[in-house]
Amino acid sequence: MQNKQSLSSSYDHKIPHRPLGKSGYLVSEIGLGCWQLGGDFGPVSKQQVNTILNAADESGVSFWDTADVYGSGQSEQWIGDWCKSNAKQRIIGTKFGRNDSLYPNGYTPENIRKSIEGSLERLQLSSIPLIQLHCIPEEMLNDDILWHCLDDLTREGLVDNVAASVETIEQAHTCLGIPAITSLQIILNIFRQDACETLLAAAKDADVGILARLPLASGLLSGKMNKNTVFSNSDHRNYNRDGNAFSVGETFSGLPYAKGLELVELIRELVPDGMSMSQFALRWCLDQHGVSSVLAGASSPEQVRDNAAASTNPPLPQSTHQALADLYIQKIRPYIRGKI
Ligand SMILES: NC(=O)c1ccc[n+]([C@@H]2O[C@H](COP(=O)([O-])OP(=O)(O)OC[C@H]3O[C@@H](n4cnc5c(N)ncnc54)[C@H](OP(=O)(O)O)[C@@H]3O)[C@@H](O)[C@H]2O)c1
Repeated sequence: MQNKQSLSSSYDHKIPHRPLGKSGYLVSEIGLGCWQLGGDFGPVSKQQVNTILNAADESGVSFWDTADVYGSGQSEQWIGDWCKSNAKQRIIGTKFGRNDSLYPNGYTPENIRKSIEGSLERLQLSSIPLIQLHCIPEEMLNDDILWHCLDDLTREGLVDNVAASVETIEQAHTCLGIPAITSLQIILNIFRQDACETLLAAAKDADVGILARLPLASGLLSGKMNKNTVFSNSDHRNYNRDGNAFSVGETFSGLPYAKGLELVELIRELVPDGMSMSQFALRWCLDQHGVSSVLAGASSPEQVRDNAAASTNPPLPQSTHQALADLYIQKIRPYIRGKI
């Protein structure tokens, strides 16, 4: 098992760090989303991945979020290679539950163990700091066999903390009732504000850290996209735009692309001078109570640096938060597809 204190002090706290629920870890408030490193946002080379990971390291981004299925293991493997060749450890949250042997109904102790051993091997770790259930079927969340198995793996030291990544607010509330859960990964951004109603406060009361994914709504909230933007064939923003491959909510937060572009223009009016729209969107996430880390995905080192710098901006004024909350209810929420 990792020594939490030595791991937490083994990286530079160049940007603010926050506690990750009851895990004992301190994590950078801007984390690195590593889905991109598997090639699901277009092809990527190992050299490009190394420049992204170097930029995260240099910017003080200490929490990296990946999954066994990102690039069928490529994301985990290249993170493991980077850590090994740089002789550095980072707080890595990976996920299991969506590979072919497990999803949707193969959650036997043997299959779970095999999946987690595969992640350990690719990440080149003896213990996984944070293992997250990866949007598993809702009915499995309370399955005793699954929890006994994770308990065994924790006692054996293969896993340090157990957590969940979920799709809906209801699933998130279910997870808050499961004592083993350390953190919850949810979709949280200006286009997906439902968690602000009661979930964030309930998570804080339960000492469960919130990991905010899709903070830029797959890049829409960077404000750089337009109707002529082209996404490669292997980019989920092309093939899963309407939920043809997996949950529609994971791509552009469930908004139809053209509607998302329209809404971005309404939000742009609220961005203060001197702040990039990406930093505004990330700052909105950072201002929500109970958020441990905002998992910004990046496809270049420049994006990593820009995102890490969002941490240095002051909180947005209350009037801006109110304007965004009103906009959400009136003009955004009605257009979200899929379960919220
Ligand atoms: N079910 C789950 O558990 C689940 C599902 C989805 C995501 N996640 C996790 O959450 C992470 C974040 O989600 P995400 O990557 O899908 O969405 P995101 O963070 O909202 O958007 C990432 C995209 O935004 C653009 N971008 C990032 N920083 C930028 C900047 N500073 N300026 C301009 N553009 C910028 C990039 O687009 P371009 O590539 O076009 O430049 C990047 O690929 C993932 O990497 C993954 O770790 C988990």
